[in-house]
Amino acid sequence: MAYIADPRPHHGALPARSWLRSNAPALSLNGPWRFRLSPTATAPEDFAAEAFDDAGWDDLPVPAHWVLHGDGAYGRPIYTNVQYPFPIDPPHVPDENPTGDYRRQVDVPADLAGCERVVLRFDGVESMFRVWVNGDEVGTASGSRLAHEFDVTGSLRAGANVVAVRVHQWSAGSYLEDQDQWWLPGIFRDVTLIGRPAGGIEDVWLRTSYTDGRGLVLPEVTADAPVTLRIPALNIEQVVVAGEPVDVGEVAPWSAEEPMLYDATVSTAAETVTLRLGFRTVEIRGDQFLVNGRRVVFHGMNRHETHPERGRVFDEEHAREDLARMKRFNVNAIRTSHYPPHPRLLDLADELGFWVILECDLETHGFEKLGWHGNPSDDPAWREAYLDRVERTVERDKNHPSIVIWSLGNESGTGANLAAMSAWVHARDAGRPVHYEGDYTGDYTDLYSRMYPPVTETEQIGTDGSRTPLLGCTPAQGARQRTKPFLLCEYAHAMGNGPGALDQYEDLVHRHPRLHGGFVWEWRDHGIRTSTPDGRPFYGYGGDFGEVVHDGNFVMDGMVLSDDVPTPGLHEFKAVVQPLRLTFDGADVVIDNLRHSADTSDLRFVRRDSSALAVPPIPPGGSVRVAVDADPAAWLTIDAVLAAATAWAPEGHVVATAQRPASEAPVAPARVSSGWRPFEFENGSLVRLAGRPATGPRLELFRAPTDNDEGLSDRIEDSDESRPDVSSADVWRRAGLDRLTTRRVSVERSGDALRTVDRVAAADSALSVLMETIWSADGSVRVEILPSSGWPTVWPRIGVRFDLPGDVDGASWFGLGPHESYPDSMRAAQVGHYRATIDELSVAYARPQETGHRSQVRSLTLTSGDDAWLTLTTIPDTRGRRPGFTLSRHTPQQIARAAHPHELPPSTTSYLFIDAAQHGLGSRACGPDVWPGFALRPEARTIRLRFSPGAA
Ligand code: GAL
Repeated sequence: MAYIADPRPHHGALPARSWLRSNAPALSLNGPWRFRLSPTATAPEDFAAEAFDDAGWDDLPVPAHWVLHGDGAYGRPIYTNVQYPFPIDPPHVPDENPTGDYRRQVDVPADLAGCERVVLRFDGVESMFRVWVNGDEVGTASGSRLAHEFDVTGSLRAGANVVAVRVHQWSAGSYLEDQDQWWLPGIFRDVTLIGRPAGGIEDVWLRTSYTDGRGLVLPEVTADAPVTLRIPALNIEQVVVAGEPVDVGEVAPWSAEEPMLYDATVSTAAETVTLRLGFRTVEIRGDQFLVNGRRVVFHGMNRHETHPERGRVFDEEHAREDLARMKRFNVNAIRTSHYPPHPRLLDLADELGFWVILECDLETHGFEKLGWHGNPSDDPAWREAYLDRVERTVERDKNHPSIVIWSLGNESGTGANLAAMSAWVHARDAGRPVHYEGDYTGDYTDLYSRMYPPVTETEQIGTDGSRTPLLGCTPAQGARQRTKPFLLCEYAHAMGNGPGALDQYEDLVHRHPRLHGGFVWEWRDHGIRTSTPDGRPFYGYGGDFGEVVHDGNFVMDGMVLSDDVPTPGLHEFKAVVQPLRLTFDGADVVIDNLRHSADTSDLRFVRRDSSALAVPPIPPGGSVRVAVDADPAAWLTIDAVLAAATAWAPEGHVVATAQRPASEAPVAPARVSSGWRPFEFENGSLVRLAGRPATGPRLELFRAPTDNDEGLSDRIEDSDESRPDVSSADVWRRAGLDRLTTRRVSVERSGDALRTVDRVAAADSALSVLMETIWSADGSVRVEILPSSGWPTVWPRIGVRFDLPGDVDGASWFGLGPHESYPDSMRAAQVGHYRATIDELSVAYARPQETGHRSQVRSLTLTSGDDAWLTLTTIPDTRGRRPGFTLSRHTPQQIARAAHPHELPPSTTSYLFIDAAQHGLGSRACGPDVWPGFALRPEARTIRLRFSPGAA
């Protein structure tokens, strides 16, 4: 078993090659295998023998992770971010090393067995495995998300065979796979027997380029026979001569926007391989990253392979739908964090159109807390493993036009082995640059890349001649980094409610051409579907599976929830990065096409108030001015929609939107309907509202902390208040904002009006807020909120709460919507008439937290079923600011106590919050705090509402 702790990557695996579609005989070994799990690696190896009796074993599907089967009988998933879930004792792993033995009878057809050679291919096994065919050992391999092939010709025969595989959850390779994700052992990608016919094609690389309208193919084919290249659509049919490029004439280029692919075949007499070619040239010119001569701006997502039931087992239909969803939300790029995905994913990226950063399966983050002492990245014993990993990465996927950058891995410190990987890639593929964020000083990488820098720092990176030192760089190294294109390999940590400030990052991209955009962290929540002991389903995160060490819900940081529901953060992203800028200017709208290379002839422009808007096709980088001739007193919304269906969206899908505000009329004076009693009081307190039991307003300064509010990230924008050791949520809890008490100071009646004054404060605090409430018989109420001096830091909200009957279960409103919005996440919000049920108003974040705030509401009608009960009209304060609302089945205090949605208590009350203001969202779960301009300071605010019966 010494091999388990051997840093060398494999014994007996064949050199890496492309993942090819070929007509040579092949046999999928996916399906049920016999399976036995042992707690250690010491079970006898006799199971590899053909005659072994596995009758007592279970069945387990391949591909699968064993911990996601057997209802706990095969162990449970483990989630850690940086921590290793085993002692840091490289290259050793504990004796407690769950080991899965797999066996399968394979009936090999004669045509496959008759090939000159047969290889057995594994596309992904976590974390290391050993293989036997008919009792003969054929080799071992590690590198979980990498493909390995073994020559099994000598052991395989036509007819009945036995393939046996032993998989260890932990191995030396685990030290190189410390990515922030679930540890999920097993054979989780395809297993295939592949025939290699005599005179067949061992490997193909059709490098393409595009210059001045013409395409070039530079073929590299490994074959012992003459090879013919055919590209029917370009009338190409010619014998390949090694090293000689094929000029294919005029072609349409490939881009993420117009992913033009040409079917091609490469054949010998014995074998034909089918590929799809995209013509594009990737280059770095100065500090510009260009494809086909034009600068690329990445509006990207970090994509892990994760599925709530399957884990990292690929499901093509689900992946295609996920990528289509990305396209619908204006995502144009993917970083395959932090390992190569299933090979089919790249076919989908070629076809649907994404700029891809293809990352190697490498992360040693757990060494950081040792000051990187002992980090494999700089230890010669691991050099072979590092090189093997990057070779397998590049060789497998080299044919894809979507891949424009190779990435060495993630968060592995720095060292000679990384530099060696980069040198290997440069020697092998001069056509794509090398990325690795951890190379702060830029010694061996081609792009400057960072994760989570604040907006200010990002701007400094984009600015020439800045004297600001760059992270980890001497001035000279910093100067060198500033000569390179810059990208944010991670930014905008999308954990829970957030992120804020997407628009601030995007604005920089248009001002500083060195900045090439970036990749949001991350695309999806990694929740694993599980259930409570009494059978209620939920999406589990770290700690839900009895892990010894774990990192809680840090794995739930996606733009899409575990059940595929896009978050409001994703809607915000879509609006911020939309490829058209529409600027209203007097009676005109100016439309800028911000795309890389596509014009706008695929779009129609539609006015929501009337008909289409005639806009001529705008070339990329171009601009037109169109008269809109609309009533300035009305809200004008223009959508750019798809003129025809695409592979990822139907005709009419909205690509970009802009809204011109109306000049709003002041609120009309009250109409007091006779006999209507808006308010009823007892002892100076509201007991009925419009005839139904109700209490309020009660001051609410607390919100259930978001993951960003709980964040301790040290990347704080607001340096005058940087407290890396204290989260905003801790500050709020210490100040007692979640446990405010009230003392009635006075009650006065004068004529029709009732005036109350309350002093609101927390136990053991001298700080307070005075709240004055003035009720008028015309149905209006004014609330003055006046904090005492001395309140620290920021507040989550300044608002009031009304407790209403539980059957108040919906709202329709005129104001910003349809999704929740917060001060630093407002770009997706448009003024309009919206309606939603109380449950639709909240987002089911994996850990319950603040949700549902609709900003700048003009009027709000509360409904019970189909009945409109009551309408609140808001009156702007003296600075023209309007409050927002939240309608929820729970108080912030209840929400803050729940760790999962199913832990929220049953509710019989509907809570209406009217907030004069909310604090921003920021990204402090892993990144900058709320930008100072969107931080809510304790301050005096006024809320004015008018109630009227029924609908607005
Ligand atoms: C980054 C890391 C990601 C993820 C993220 C936080 O540092 O590269 O893998 O852990 O932080 O969610």
